Amino acid sequence: MIYKKTETLPSAVELRGLFVNDPLALRVQRAPVFHRDSEGRIMRDMPQDKSLDSTMDLLADGYRFISKRCQQYQTKVFETRVMLQKAVCMQGEEASRLFYEPDRFTRKGAVPPNTLKLLQDIGSVQSLDGEDHLERKRMFLAMMKPDSLQRLSDIFAEQWLMQLDKWVGKDSIIFLPEVQDILTRAVCIWADVPLTEPQAKLRRVEFASMISGAGSVGLRNWWGLFLRNQNERWAEKLISGIRETQKENPSGSPLEIIVWHRDREGKLLDVETAAVELINILRPTVAVAWYLVFVAHALHEHPECKIRLQSGDPRYLEAFVQEVRRFYPFFPFIAGRATTNFEWHDYVFKEGSLVLFDIYGTNHDPDIWKDPEAFRPERFMENEINLFSLVAQGAGDVVKGHRCPGEWIAIELMKRSAHLLTNMMMYDIPEQDLSIDFSRMPAIPKSKLIMSNIQRVAQPVAPDLSPVTLDGYAPRSDFAFPGTPPLRENMETQGVEPLAQ
Ligand code: HEM
Repeated sequence: MIYKKTETLPSAVELRGLFVNDPLALRVQRAPVFHRDSEGRIMRDMPQDKSLDSTMDLLADGYRFISKRCQQYQTKVFETRVMLQKAVCMQGEEASRLFYEPDRFTRKGAVPPNTLKLLQDIGSVQSLDGEDHLERKRMFLAMMKPDSLQRLSDIFAEQWLMQLDKWVGKDSIIFLPEVQDILTRAVCIWADVPLTEPQAKLRRVEFASMISGAGSVGLRNWWGLFLRNQNERWAEKLISGIRETQKENPSGSPLEIIVWHRDREGKLLDVETAAVELINILRPTVAVAWYLVFVAHALHEHPECKIRLQSGDPRYLEAFVQEVRRFYPFFPFIAGRATTNFEWHDYVFKEGSLVLFDIYGTNHDPDIWKDPEAFRPERFMENEINLFSLVAQGAGDVVKGHRCPGEWIAIELMKRSAHLLTNMMMYDIPEQDLSIDFSRMPAIPKSKLIMSNIQRVAQPVAPDLSPVTLDGYAPRSDFAFPGTPPLRENMETQGVEPLAQ
């Protein structure tokens, strides 16, 4: 419902009529929804959620908190209070374009400290703006060369197949901790982080607890914070040790890229910041485990997808993975603070305003997605998806904005796991509670996905894949996925170095 400045203003009675049968809407403001600013221009009043504070509603509605109210107020933007602070909630493609305009919103001061500490943390790339952000982002993008991504994917498959041999002898496994373990080992080998066997177990628990503590309050959050401290001390010791004993070698592994990264003034990152950024590679790669559970969940719920994946069509594999990222809940929303005063669709935003951009709701917005509650990979083969519509890992320009630099990693590992699940093993999904609680963040099926009767398939099922890797997977060199920035082109146009051929 967008009224232009020149249109006749609707009366308050007309507007109230929209909400008359809606109990939640009784909390919507009853005042007129337009006002004149100091220059006499007609500006829109932001629809208001009138509850004194929505924090409890947010915890109860979880991923659906913003969508539910957008539907009830027939709007894509409304104002509420969260933890006693005013917050503007917004969803949809236009909101995505606004929120991901480089430097329009800062992440500084937007996220509660206990959540921030468990995710990107103070001093991280996400907390930076402008030139400092651009420069630090380069460091992350330098790790995302096609050959490096392919190497991570191959290490991951190798670790998976080693675990698979152990799964075969067991009655059943719980998939979530198993894939967390595989990912912890794979990302550490890839990044060149040394791990003994006991350390591998400890690191898995630390990373998993940070991820699962980030979206919670109370015990789960405190446990995550406790383990985060332990993890930081380990990462700091590792980085100091390398700086003390090795020569500077910035062109090497992800660990070396961080250890020897120099800021705009030519200084090495201080040890605490370097540790934070190392953890910002390792922890989110382990977080991909949540997506891998959703891959297996989708295969179980939609056996027709499994059959198509076994045919070895690489386009369908990509479409399937993108649909998993769109359909299933992971990040509910992202918080930012306006860096300046500005107007958007006749709404006024003041510098410092807190804005919550609805990731889950935008991925389910009926204005973008036809039949959004249906799981239908084909939509990614039929329609053009742009950089602002599929927002599972942020939106827009990956170099200049805060879009996730690990998107290619997540997609590639999901594709590889879909391939392994459909072509390299057979398993049963016994009776269990696979329901997903949308108030728990990050969400996961209640059972964490139990598999039984696991068997290894001797020969990869997928035909005609060449060149063939250890699991019959077709490697790729372009890493361009629908709705995701193409790796090389994007980096080349932005002049990001170094680039792989
Ligand atoms: C599990 C899958 C993942 C999800 C759902 C996810 C989600 C996100 C989202 C939504 C953002 C945008 C935050 C914002 O707008 O402020 C983001 C940023 C970021 N992600 Fe990811 N991510 C994932 C995997 C990864 C991986 C594998 C890495 C590293 C290898 C990574 C590293 C980062 C970093 C460093 C940022 C900050 C970027 C910046 O501020 O410019 N993420 N991620």
